[in-house]
Amino acid sequence: MGLSGAEIRSRFLDFFRQRGHKVLPSASLVPSDPTVLLTIAGMLPFKPIFLGQEIAPYPRVTTAQKCVRTNDIENVGKTARHHTFFEMLGNFSFGDYFKVEAISWGWELVTEVFQLPPDRLVVSVFYEDEEAWQIWHDRIGIPAARIQRMGEDNFWASGATGPCGPCSEIYYDFAPDRSGEINLEDDSRFLEVYNLVFMELNRDSEGKLTPLAKQNIDTGMGLERMAQVLQGVPNNYETDLVFPIIQTIEVITGASYHKSNEKIKTNLKVMADHMRAVVHMIGDGITASNVGRGYILRRLLRRVIRYGRLLGVNTPFTTTIADRVIALAVDAYPELQNQQEVIKQELQREEERFCQTLERGEKLLVEVLNRSKKQISGNDAFTLYDTYGFPLELTEEIAAEQGLTIDREGFDRAMTEQQNRSKEAHTEIDLLAGSAWQELSLPSTQFVGYDSLFSVSRVLALGKEGKPVQTVQQNDRVQVVLDQTPFYAESGGQVGDKGEITGAAGKITIDDVQKSGDLFIHFGTVTEGTINEKDVIEAKVLYSDRRRIQAHHSATHLLQAALKKLSIPKSVKQAP
Ligand code: ALA
Repeated sequence: MGLSGAEIRSRFLDFFRQRGHKVLPSASLVPSDPTVLLTIAGMLPFKPIFLGQEIAPYPRVTTAQKCVRTNDIENVGKTARHHTFFEMLGNFSFGDYFKVEAISWGWELVTEVFQLPPDRLVVSVFYEDEEAWQIWHDRIGIPAARIQRMGEDNFWASGATGPCGPCSEIYYDFAPDRSGEINLEDDSRFLEVYNLVFMELNRDSEGKLTPLAKQNIDTGMGLERMAQVLQGVPNNYETDLVFPIIQTIEVITGASYHKSNEKIKTNLKVMADHMRAVVHMIGDGITASNVGRGYILRRLLRRVIRYGRLLGVNTPFTTTIADRVIALAVDAYPELQNQQEVIKQELQREEERFCQTLERGEKLLVEVLNRSKKQISGNDAFTLYDTYGFPLELTEEIAAEQGLTIDREGFDRAMTEQQNRSKEAHTEIDLLAGSAWQELSLPSTQFVGYDSLFSVSRVLALGKEGKPVQTVQQNDRVQVVLDQTPFYAESGGQVGDKGEITGAAGKITIDDVQKSGDLFIHFGTVTEGTINEKDVIEAKVLYSDRRRIQAHHSATHLLQAALKKLSIPKSVKQAP
């Protein structure tokens, strides 16, 4: 066994500490960035710094960041390297050092500290990044054949808008003797272990790239991947970071990982992966629910429970696995210590809830599976979801095991109908009386319009015909409350801004903004598609209107001042 996961983590952080970096603790999995539900990369907590919205507390920083990504969830357990939860080691420069240092240190770390043989490494650069190519070739001495020029894969961004830049990756070659061309996409041979992002651009909502005020560095080394390489095991799951969890699951289920067939092996890996994710998510304050992060948590946890049942476990078991997960991670993430009881209580609660519904739901599920020919109807999938607590993806997975699909559109329709019904049932508030918004207990709107006419925001509430609704559609006359807004609300005689709110599936033209307490209420008409509560949208003020409104407002002030000056004081008038 090579270096332990803990040793890799601390050597990485020490290496950069010795090179002037401040070691910071991992940020929470719940980001303050409204554009993502979970912390998906080491750079996420630093996004406002890259964008120049916040001042960097230190010019160089290094972290081991807990991350959760669910975009590749169907690959989890099936490939050697995919996870939902993983740890990303990173070094960051906020306008301090740039490509030369990032590449030189990256290479030194990988070849000297971790002692990977240079002839087992291949690097990639963005095809237009001549500078990076030359640093690797001329300075580091990598032969041209081992520097691959790549396309869009080597341009990294954390989302559709925001900081981004070309990147350069270091790959480990598991089969250097294999002949033929180097193809970095062949993941049976190559594993990306370290990504260096040259973060110097910002992408706006129209896709336009503009240089950031500073040239920054953002890097990411997947800890589990590095452990796989250094420990000489066939996949991330057999490293000391994850395998002890699988061993606990073996004891609970009676299954033997090494003696099992691929399907059971995959299930054991999925259970270990998802348990790491749910423990850290609950530790960071997320609870199971049917929306947002709470739904991701529910979906991961219910999958673990179902797999446990498939392996024959009929009593609650997730808290036992959680103890193992916490014991393995607590040194690096000490916040877990205080949260142990909270985590276990939430697991227990959700497990009990799901087991009860599962027993009732399984009967219906079998019935539905038997009567469905090719597809499970939207209504059946919705009943399983709504009444029996089967996350849609779980029903989808079970259906797929029987060669069936699900009518997703029908499911969405059933969901919308139900939401509208329940809203109608319990809303008596009349939002057109402005103060009624206060009854919704929403957080104060943050006004960001002094230095920006644009913001990426989340829809916190929608109103239509005086009632709170969850969805608004084309031609609806609506009110919108956002978590933050660049729109100026009517006050002190200056009228509110005009502009647009654009979501993934619709657009609202805003023609007035009023204040209700600390809330900014945007009034407008849906001009395209639909917008839902909790959607992430782009709010954009019409610049020309803001200018005209301001000019008009200033002119009023000037006029008043001038009139005051011109009017002759009474005392003067009366003087002889
Ligand atoms: N932010 C970069 C990544 O996640 C380093 O790959």
